[in-house]
Amino acid sequence: MKILLAGGAGYIGSHTAVELLNAGLEVVIVDNYCNSSPVAIERIEEITGKKVEAFEADIKDKEKVFEIMKQTKPDCVIHFAGLKAVGESVQLPLKYYRNNIDTTITLLECMEELGIKNFVFSSSATVYGEENDIPYVETMRRLSCSNPYGWTKYMMEQILEDAAKADSELSVVLLRYFNPIGAHESGRIGEDPQGIPNNLMPYIAQVAVGRRDHLTIFGNDYETKDGTCRRDYIHVMDLANGHLKAVLYADQHKGVEVFNLGTGNPFSVLEIVHAFENANGIEIKYEFGEKRAGDLPEFWANADKAKEVLGWEANRTIEEMCRDTWNWQKNNPNGYNN
Ligand code: NAD
Ligand code: UFG
Repeated sequence: MKILLAGGAGYIGSHTAVELLNAGLEVVIVDNYCNSSPVAIERIEEITGKKVEAFEADIKDKEKVFEIMKQTKPDCVIHFAGLKAVGESVQLPLKYYRNNIDTTITLLECMEELGIKNFVFSSSATVYGEENDIPYVETMRRLSCSNPYGWTKYMMEQILEDAAKADSELSVVLLRYFNPIGAHESGRIGEDPQGIPNNLMPYIAQVAVGRRDHLTIFGNDYETKDGTCRRDYIHVMDLANGHLKAVLYADQHKGVEVFNLGTGNPFSVLEIVHAFENANGIEIKYEFGEKRAGDLPEFWANADKAKEVLGWEANRTIEEMCRDTWNWQKNNPNGYNN
């Protein structure tokens, strides 16, 4: 089976490529490297000892994407090619709507014209919005998102549901990720954010390696057990394995299915800082700052459905997530720009 990974050079895509190749599937990567590096492709090949068919292209460019799909004939498309910086999406909403929605429609149109029927989508826990109770369950409605990035995910889920309603042959799997962290255990691929990291774990890793002086913890008077926000952190290789299961599922089913990919166990920001310190024997300097706009106090997944239907479960520990993050960062202090 051959899988086309749109945005496959990025953080989650590159780890998924390793998982798919190791399972004996073929991988095609299409990326414009707007938030990644072609070095990631070399590293995927190095880790797996297998060849990746790679194309540099913007997924919004329908002519090019059509040609690539026609030439490579994938059985399934996984759509990772989104812009994902929540803060930037508030400043530049049109850039986010254009990129995220347009890429989705372009992929669907090319697939329709070429008779490709299986689609796996990188969605986010953010579509549960601000009002749902926790833990989040797939049967809950999508509710109002606090930023344009979240709304793009909300809208893309709707577009995919409508497309599947109109084409009974289409199989769509919506994967709602919680908070992916960690790296492949080899330390050869990992998360390589451009500029100042928005997310917690890459920020901690850059403090550890000396690129940042200290971490600012956004708020310490939330109504949580230690006053800091709680999230459901999941090892990126567990997440990658969820994609393998989703691709196999999509091949055997029709219609739309939604899965949470999380562990079901939340950790607070302070717990993450201390877990990183304990796992790696490094002190992380931090101070408390203002709350960040739009942050929810806590949320985590009910991960039962993925276990029951896909036979998937996250099994790596928080120590492994912290150890593998540091293994990647210490061996690649400047990411792929070494
Ligand atoms: P990433 O930025 O590392 O990867 C995205 C990849 O897509 C990059 O390689 C980028 O160059 C590419 N890309 C973006 N727009 C493109 C375009 N128009 N044409 C071609 N390539 C394009 O991000 P990631 O963390 O790997 O996330 C992958 C997907 O998962 C995204 O859709 C993101 O919104 C979603 N997601 C991520 C998280 C997270 O915390 N990392 C959480 C929930 C959902
Ligand atoms: N945090 C800090 N300091 C930092 C960075 C983060 O204290 O420098 C805190 C945040 O306030 C939050 C927690 O660490 O409490 C996790 O923050 P992240 O930015 O790592 O993750 P989020 O839960 O805010 O965001 C994630 C994804 C988004 C998605 C969102 C909601 O990155 O793509 O979940 O589902 F939209």
